[in-house]
Amino acid sequence: KKVQPTIFVIFGGTGDLNARKLTPALYHLFLDGQLPEQFAIIGTGRTPLSDEQFRTRLLDGINQFSRTGKADKKAWSDFAEHMVYQASDVQEATTYQQFSKRIKGYEKDWDTEANVIYYLAVAPEFFPVIAGNLAKSSLTADAERTRIVIEKPFGHDLESSRELNKLLGQIFTERQIYRIDHYLGKETVQNIMAFRFANALFEPLWNRNYIDHVQISVTEQLGVGERSGYYDGAGALRDMIQNHLLQLLCLVAMEPPVDFTADEVRNRKVDVLRAMRRFAPEDVRESAVRGQYGDGWMEGKQVPGYREEPGANPTSNTETFAAVKFFVDNWRWQGVPFYVRTGKRLHRSASIITVQFKDVPHCIFPAETAESWQQNRLIISIQPEMSIRLQVQAKRPGLDMMLNTVDMVFDYKGTYTSQAPEAYETLLLDTMLGDQTLFMRGDQVEAAWDLIMPILNSWQGRASQSFPNYSADSWGPEVAEALIARDGFHWFTLP
Ligand code: BG6
Repeated sequence: KKVQPTIFVIFGGTGDLNARKLTPALYHLFLDGQLPEQFAIIGTGRTPLSDEQFRTRLLDGINQFSRTGKADKKAWSDFAEHMVYQASDVQEATTYQQFSKRIKGYEKDWDTEANVIYYLAVAPEFFPVIAGNLAKSSLTADAERTRIVIEKPFGHDLESSRELNKLLGQIFTERQIYRIDHYLGKETVQNIMAFRFANALFEPLWNRNYIDHVQISVTEQLGVGERSGYYDGAGALRDMIQNHLLQLLCLVAMEPPVDFTADEVRNRKVDVLRAMRRFAPEDVRESAVRGQYGDGWMEGKQVPGYREEPGANPTSNTETFAAVKFFVDNWRWQGVPFYVRTGKRLHRSASIITVQFKDVPHCIFPAETAESWQQNRLIISIQPEMSIRLQVQAKRPGLDMMLNTVDMVFDYKGTYTSQAPEAYETLLLDTMLGDQTLFMRGDQVEAAWDLIMPILNSWQGRASQSFPNYSADSWGPEVAEALIARDGFHWFTLP
C-alpha cells in the first residue's frame, strides 16, 4: 500500500514530542522512501517562528534523537522543504481559516485532493477545543480523507475518558480517530502476534492447562525528573498500567483473531479486558500494591527521591511503582494469575513478559540430578534486549546424568542486520495508510479504565503511610515481592 498525497498538521509543533519522536519518525519514513512527493508538514504552536527557525529546531531534534545519528545535509534539506510553520492560537477561528487556506493551496499546487492528518501533540486540556474548532471550520468533514491522532493520556479516569470519547464521537467517526499507545508500535510488541499466530507450536500449550502464570514487567531506571507537573496527577497505574501494560497483557491473552484486520484484532483484545476480573474495594489490598521512590545512588550519581524532584509536591502521595495481580475469567485463563509491575528509578530498564509453564507431571530423575530445577519459561524481551528465549532443561555434558537450564534464543541482533524502525515510524505510517490495527479503539480505552478504577479509588482515598518505600536503584518496594512471593513465585529478571 502506498501513502496518498498527505498533509500532516502537528499541533504542539514546537514541543518535545515533535522534536524527539514525530519529526525524526517522519524523516526516517522519508529516507525510507515511504512518503509521497506530495507531502507537507504544517507545524503549529504559540511561539512565533519563521519556517527556517522551525526547521532548524527540528534539525537539532534529529541530530540529538534520531536512531541513525546526525542528519545527512542533503537528505535533511530535501525533507525540510516539505515543512512549514504557522504560529497560532488554538482558540481562535482565524487559526483554522489559515489551515484551510494552506490545505487548499497545497491541493491546488498538487492538482489533487489530499489526506489531512491532525496530530494533537498537546496537553489533554486542549483536545476538546482543537477538535471542536476543526469541526466548526469544516476541516474534518470528509471522513475518508481526514484523521485525528491523539496522544495519551486519554482521559484521567473512566468518566473523563467516556466524555472525551463522546465528544470525539460527535465530530468524527471511529475510523477517523487514532489513539496512540506507542507500545503497540514497538517491533517486539508487534511480534507477539506473529509469534503466537504464525506458529502452530505454542497455541496448544497457551492456556491454563500448561501455563502456570504470566508476568509482565516494565521497569525503568529513569526518574520522573522535570515531568512532575504531569506525573503527580497521574502515577504509575494511570501512566503505564492502564495503557501499555494492559495492552501487552491483551496481546498475550487474546484469542486468535480470524484475520489481521483492525476491528477483528481489536475485538479480540477488548474481549480480554472485558473478561478480566473486577476488583471489589476490599480486594484491592490483596491484589495491588504501590510504591514511591526515595533518593539513592544510580550509576555512581546521587539521585533525588520523587518528592524532591524539581517542582514536585514534597508530601506527594503519587505512586511511582505499581504491581497488580490480575485474572482473566474465561475458559483459556481461568485461575492463571497475570502479575504486572512497573516503576521508575528501578535497578534496570527492561520490559519483559515471562510465561511460566507448569512443571512436568512426574519427574523421572532423582532430585540430585538438577542443580536448580526450573519449570519451562518463555521470555519475551521487548527492550532493551529484543529477544525471545525458551528456557528448557537439558543434560549437561558429562558422564553423569545432570540437568541444567538452557536457553533457546531468537535474538534480533543476531538474526537481522537491519535496524528496527522506531514505534512512531510504524504508527505514523499507519495513520497515513489508514490502518487502525495498532491503535486504541474507544471501547478498549474505557474497558481498561473500568478495570483499574477500583484500585485508583482505593489508593486515592487512602494515603500511603510508608512513602517513600523503595530507594532508587532497587527493584521496588518489599510489598511487591510479597505480592508474588505469597503465591510461591518471584519476579523474573534477565541475567
Ligand atoms: C510513557 C510514559 O507513555 O512511556 C512514561 O508516560 C514512560 O512515563 C514511557 O517513561 C516509557 O516508554 P518507553 O518507550 O521508553 O518504554
